[in-house]
Amino acid sequence: MTSLLHVVGARPNFMKVAPVLRAGRARPGVVQYLVHTGQHYDAAMSDRFFQDLGLPEPDVNLNVGSASHAVQTAKIMMEFEPVLDRLQPDWMVVYGDVNSTVATALVASKKGIKVAHVEAGLRSRDRSMPEEINRLLTDQLADVLLTPSRDGDANLRAEGIPEARIVFVGNVMVDTLLSLRATAQALGTPAKHGLAGKPYAFCTFHRPSNVDHAATLQEILGALDDLAGRMPVIFAIHPRTRARIGEFGLQHLAQRVTLLDPLSYLDTVSLVDQATLVLTDSGGLQEETTVLGVPCLTARPNTERPVTITEGTNRLIPSERAGILAAVEQVLAQRASGHFKPGRPEGWDGRAGERIIAALAGD
Ligand code: UD1
Repeated sequence: MTSLLHVVGARPNFMKVAPVLRAGRARPGVVQYLVHTGQHYDAAMSDRFFQDLGLPEPDVNLNVGSASHAVQTAKIMMEFEPVLDRLQPDWMVVYGDVNSTVATALVASKKGIKVAHVEAGLRSRDRSMPEEINRLLTDQLADVLLTPSRDGDANLRAEGIPEARIVFVGNVMVDTLLSLRATAQALGTPAKHGLAGKPYAFCTFHRPSNVDHAATLQEILGALDDLAGRMPVIFAIHPRTRARIGEFGLQHLAQRVTLLDPLSYLDTVSLVDQATLVLTDSGGLQEETTVLGVPCLTARPNTERPVTITEGTNRLIPSERAGILAAVEQVLAQRASGHFKPGRPEGWDGRAGERIIAALAGD
């Protein structure tokens, strides 16, 4: 028997745990627990995702909520310790690069509980991003590093991680995307917004580097408003971004943009699937657009997901009005000339969850 304790906390974790839980359920002799730290807690950021993804109720919710990085990380560690003492799993499985990932990996490794990191090895080499710190530390702590792409293996080797701890499994978020794509298409979310068969742009922005500085956010909103002059622009807005727009008094800048509250997973996939292009700073959307074959413009100076550029549809662009609009023009011209050729990286095939369970349950 193998017992696995999966820890999730924030929105991007939920799509990653679903296929692993499913693969674990299908395997005799695997016992699983699900702990939610409560880093994300709004219905739109958490409950809706549990519903869309068919996730079970967590066995434990630590209800930590929002705070500064130090306070949030410390709270997760304090609340998680007694849970780990009680459940004593063979493996703790952590996902991605959020504060819940590093906080719980640190608790487990000091207690001698083996840690498996799903989505190991990604590097932006930009330590101003909190996620990069979380990735570096979690990978140092983990006993098994489950990588989504070959660049992850190379990054870990270059950091001196022993080869025996690195297991290439492919991209588990793609399992979820491929299994729910048809359901999302059937929802017809574009039609609900009057967009069926029409060109439109879908966008999300929530990185502190883009939304916490008034001047940068102003550039981005200005570009989106200009673009909305030529095609509908749907902006699914993170609570952090909505708060900053209010604080900086920038509501007037995005008059022509359709601002939506955070969307469910299925509505997001439904809209992204039919979009002409996506503008974002999300990690997950860089990958999802690659699989769906939709051009993606990522307003960041770097990405921890380079295969989305070399093999997919992604391109890095500046967070600045003229640069964003120039990149949009190039994408539209490329699409019109038929020179747009999406690809699919190795291991992004819908079977990563099974490979993760095989790696942990003794194959
Ligand atoms: C976190 C992750 C980020 C991920 C993002 C996806 C870290 C360091 N960052 O960033 O990698 O891309 O989730 O969404 O872990 N808030 C709500 N309701 C919620 C959750 C948050 O209103 O359910 C608001 C709060 O004002 C909070 C702010 O959003 O202070 C930021 O939330 P937080 O979890 O700290 O970081 P994210 O920006 O969501």
